[in-house]
Amino acid sequence: MQDYEKEITVKGWVRTKRGSKNVAFIALNDGSTINNLQLVVDLDVIAETALANMHTGAAVSATGLLIPSAGSGQKVELSVRDITLLGAANPDEYPLQPKKHSLEFLREKAHLRFRTSTFSAVSRLRHAMTFAIHKFFNDKGFFNIHSPIITGSDAEGAGEMFQVTTMHLDKLPRNAEGSIDFSQDFFGKAANLTVSGQLEAELAAMALSKVYTFGPTFRAENSNTSRHLAEFWMIEPEVAFNDIVDNMDLAEEMLKYLIKYALDNCFDDLTFLSKRLEEEEKNKKAEEKSMELISKLSFVLENDFERLTYTEAIDILKNSQPNKKGKFIYPIQGWGADLQSEHERYLVEKHFKKPVILTDYPKEIKAFYMKQNEDGKTVRAMDVLFPGIGEIIGGSQREENYDKLLNRMHEMHIPLESMWWYLETRKFGTVPHAGYGLGFERLMLFITGMGNIRDVIPFPRTPLNLEF
Ligand code: 4AD
Ligand code: MG
Repeated sequence: MQDYEKEITVKGWVRTKRGSKNVAFIALNDGSTINNLQLVVDLDVIAETALANMHTGAAVSATGLLIPSAGSGQKVELSVRDITLLGAANPDEYPLQPKKHSLEFLREKAHLRFRTSTFSAVSRLRHAMTFAIHKFFNDKGFFNIHSPIITGSDAEGAGEMFQVTTMHLDKLPRNAEGSIDFSQDFFGKAANLTVSGQLEAELAAMALSKVYTFGPTFRAENSNTSRHLAEFWMIEPEVAFNDIVDNMDLAEEMLKYLIKYALDNCFDDLTFLSKRLEEEEKNKKAEEKSMELISKLSFVLENDFERLTYTEAIDILKNSQPNKKGKFIYPIQGWGADLQSEHERYLVEKHFKKPVILTDYPKEIKAFYMKQNEDGKTVRAMDVLFPGIGEIIGGSQREENYDKLLNRMHEMHIPLESMWWYLETRKFGTVPHAGYGLGFERLMLFITGMGNIRDVIPFPRTPLNLEF
């Protein structure tokens, strides 16, 4: 890269401009890396008036020689021969000044926040993780399946769907019974945005053996937390002939591969984000501080995930200090309770101090498609729990037995008329199979050390928030 003799032209946006009588320094960034390029402008060569409108946020093009830098902080700089303003940014109006802005403020400026160091780093890491996910699966012989975004079924059976319609909401057609007549709607039936591509992935796995989806999913759950989005991206591998142990192995291998990929390929961005986190937490008490980002990533990479059953976890939680002292918002009374994020994080951060995979949950708190265990009480579910995050992956071995699946669907009031095709796979060449869903933004929270899911997706969709 240090081609010192040649003249080069660079284009980008001004981060800062400072100067003295004889020389001006412009820190230019084009988004390709976290590092700015320092432009050195000799004011004897270029009139100061030519730089007049090159304020923070302005776009410029500069031509000159790349030279070793005399200053600290950068190896090279551009000795500018010619510089042109491409697009001004009026400093009285441009909201991103060269100072620290709060993440909340930047969320209101989501159209511009790509231009901050933090969001450009997050954006590059998001890309790197997307690429690494496709590479991981491709290298293992998986096929990427495009599952539909508009569906007529509820894959999770949780009723958290956004409806899709072209009917006019102020004059909805009614049928004889008085309910809405969806036969007059675009698809001739009720439609919604998918909550998961799993069911379609299962169909594909019954022919291609190893498949995965990577698409947007939508959930109308009214959870205003730092871990939930109404629109998020999910990676869902599905593998024929795999059981729950294979499924856990694949999940652990994938997460470690992704962490290693980030460490190997995005070190500058991670270093920046690590410093950002340290700065943000500098006023916190030592015990409330999170582990340094790169050490945390390396730690997860180097240690086996702890695997235990839900039943074993409940015992640990029931006897834990926070439960005995009434510190949990949702106290653990006994077997059967759904685990909240406070419980998941206790297990990971306090008890085991490493990622945990919990298996064999009570069937009542899990989806209809999970394989039923012999005990009649639990299903072959697996959740991967991560420090600072809680659940990052949810998955299971699937119920491949037609009669058992049909029974469970009846019990859980799953509408069979919209799922007949799913059941048919259990009639024709059914085999054991397993899969899981990784929440992409939860992965991004972990990799970047960011604290709020709204800051790891460019344009977050959350309740009462649809700007941009
Ligand atoms: O546990 P979930 O609901 O599982 C499924 O959807 C299965 N169909 C997956 C499968 O077996 N193929 O969701 C999977 C993951 C969660 O572990 C979490 O990481 C993420 O998706 N997730 C969300 N991420 C952001 N915002 C939300 N509202 C999320 N809901 C789930
Ligand atoms: Mg889940």
